Amino acid sequence: MKSEEPFLRKLLLDAGARLRKQYGRVRTIRYKAGTVTNLVTNVDQEIEAFIKDRIRKQFPEDSILAEESEIEKADAKRRWIIDPLDGTTNFAHDLPIFSISIGLEIDGKIAAGGVYNPVQDEFFFAVKGRGATCNRKKIRVSQTRRLEQSLLATGFPYDIHDHPERSLPYFNTLIQRAQGVRRLGSAAIDLCYLAMGRFDGFFEVHLNPWDTAAGMLILLEAGGKITDFDGRPFSIYQRRLAASNGRIHQQMLAAIQEVRNELQQH
Ligand code: IPD
Ligand code: CA
Ligand code: CA
Repeated sequence: MKSEEPFLRKLLLDAGARLRKQYGRVRTIRYKAGTVTNLVTNVDQEIEAFIKDRIRKQFPEDSILAEESEIEKADAKRRWIIDPLDGTTNFAHDLPIFSISIGLEIDGKIAAGGVYNPVQDEFFFAVKGRGATCNRKKIRVSQTRRLEQSLLATGFPYDIHDHPERSLPYFNTLIQRAQGVRRLGSAAIDLCYLAMGRFDGFFEVHLNPWDTAAGMLILLEAGGKITDFDGRPFSIYQRRLAASNGRIHQQMLAAIQEVRNELQQH
């Protein structure tokens, strides 16, 4: 991680400065094929091109998996996993809750990851085995032990208009068991806020590797837990995620299981 760590830090800061400049400005919005809610702006594409260009120049052998383009060099041992703008809907509405998320996977394991919110200037970073930080200060998950005292976060997939039954039953149950459930609109930020104790738990049913690659490592390094809905270790290539401070994890999974049982009965 000798050269990768400073490279990744600078890359996030430089890409973040570009993103911040574009914030609040007129831009092109289009909708991804077949959807009325999944938008992409010219900024998503410009920031992604900027990030990919830097990686290609510095580490030409590495694979790149980025949201807005096809995977490059899929067989390489090292893979950069990029969400150039996590929270596009917020960005398009001038709501300052969005981030750039970049994770570096080596031999199938996330080795380093960073999430940067350039408007609030919060920079989350982790290297495997070395803890997690926000603006270079160590962060840890919360101590909350009971679900009813927990503040949770969630998100909803873009196909919610067509398939509300895939995500709303979980929200419906968890909002009645927890102290509250927030929907910020950036899964990478949700994971980082959980890592620093602002949230106690987070769940979502349809995520992509670029949403979770960096945030997962940041959370684990801050002492959190992240699994699938069955309690097995989470892989970023899975869709459903249950994450927590560890202490409320079983209570969250039990509530999720109740929802699944109910869904099966219908
Ligand atoms: C979305 C955000 C949102 C989550 C969605 C993601 P995008 O990413 O992370 O919080 O609920 O599932 O797709 O489209 O803004 O990069
Ligand atoms: Ca995303
Ligand atoms: Ca995105």
